[in-house]
Amino acid sequence: MRHDRIDPSFFESNRGRLAAQLGPNALAVVGANDILPTNADGNLTLVPNSDLFYLSGVEQEETILVLFPTAHDPLLREVLFIREPNELLRIWEGHKLTKDLAREISGIKTIKWLSEFSKTFHAMMCEAEMVWLNENAHPRAVVESQTRDARFVRECQDRYPLHSYGRLSKLMHALRVEKQPEEIELLKRAIRVTKAGFERVCGLVRPGMFEHEIEAEFAHEFIRNRCKFAYNPIIAGGANSCILHYNENDRPLVEGDLLLLDVGASYANYNADLTRTIPVSGRFTPRQKLVYNAVLRVMKQSIQNATVGKLHRDWVLEAKALMNEELLGLGLISRAEIQAESPEEYAGRKYFMHGLGHVLGLDVHDVGPMNRPFAAGWVLTVEPGIYIPDEGFGVRIENNILVTSGSPLDLMAEIPVEAEHLEDLIHSGRSRS
Ligand code: GLY
Ligand code: MN
Ligand code: MN
Repeated sequence: MRHDRIDPSFFESNRGRLAAQLGPNALAVVGANDILPTNADGNLTLVPNSDLFYLSGVEQEETILVLFPTAHDPLLREVLFIREPNELLRIWEGHKLTKDLAREISGIKTIKWLSEFSKTFHAMMCEAEMVWLNENAHPRAVVESQTRDARFVRECQDRYPLHSYGRLSKLMHALRVEKQPEEIELLKRAIRVTKAGFERVCGLVRPGMFEHEIEAEFAHEFIRNRCKFAYNPIIAGGANSCILHYNENDRPLVEGDLLLLDVGASYANYNADLTRTIPVSGRFTPRQKLVYNAVLRVMKQSIQNATVGKLHRDWVLEAKALMNEELLGLGLISRAEIQAESPEEYAGRKYFMHGLGHVLGLDVHDVGPMNRPFAAGWVLTVEPGIYIPDEGFGVRIENNILVTSGSPLDLMAEIPVEAEHLEDLIHSGRSRS
């Protein structure tokens, strides 16, 4: 791992809060993600399982965590199973977790090799009545291949059909959505590195550069700061800024165009999610600035609107109403269209066709009970946009905020966002080179 070691008390307290909800004679199983194959003998880099990391700090493939808080044998209340290192692994893959290291990282006392899983798990199941198993329950997940979790659910239910089963994801979502202070610190670090990348780019951007050269500047800043991209960066010049998930990043930047940057760093698996839209030539045109400031006003007001007790759905509706007024002011929609809108037909949809924001954390589109009201500790993105293909540009601005018992805290308040500030940044970069 490239990140600093996290104090195991964080993972211990996460396990404690989950254990308190499992109920008597109940155990929970959380596993690593699969390493997915590509072509020939290739594979994708492992993406650590977020729940496993949250509960143990372990990022290694094939790991299994079993929590059984009421087990008769105190040594079986928390058990972590890891791959046994061998000579071949050492030669080809180098460092793998030893039992001591897994114990230090996780704070779990009982560490066993995977080869001991079946026998140990059987003993635990003979005592348990109820089993909490995991699944991907993100409402927008598209899962076309069978996951390691899904395979385990089948195997477990085949072998132990008389136990009762529960959906661990429900409990995990409720826990993970309320960030702990340690998580806020990790998010702030990812945000600081994202800021460094953005400011570097503002100092370098100029017409004639290619989008992928901008991507490379972010990579430089992220990797040297022990981060990686939180998601495929969107580096979208000109009309590409109207393509919501543009990832080609292969076009030259043109004088007079806007450049939409939706880029975040990930540190210790915690993700920043920033969007800024900047003028390639260092000055917004009057029309671009009008649209930019309209989006900025909606973002600022939506940050203020993210208060404890607010339902995500109502928060979005408030933003849509604000956006309608801005679109009216920009001459893009009419008052009659606003008056004619219905819950199915949002008047501004042609120009603002995506969500206002999502919860953020170990996953970029994080997990959380989105039908429950916001509570202190939720971290949200706030990302309104206006896209006008007919005028050849789109503007999105995205900050990450923390819901608190008082006013929402803008975790990206230090990242330049005012149009004039962006222009100054770009110009001072020009005059240095
Ligand atoms: N960058 C992904 C998103 O903004 O949701
Ligand atoms: Mn984003
Ligand atoms: Mn986002």
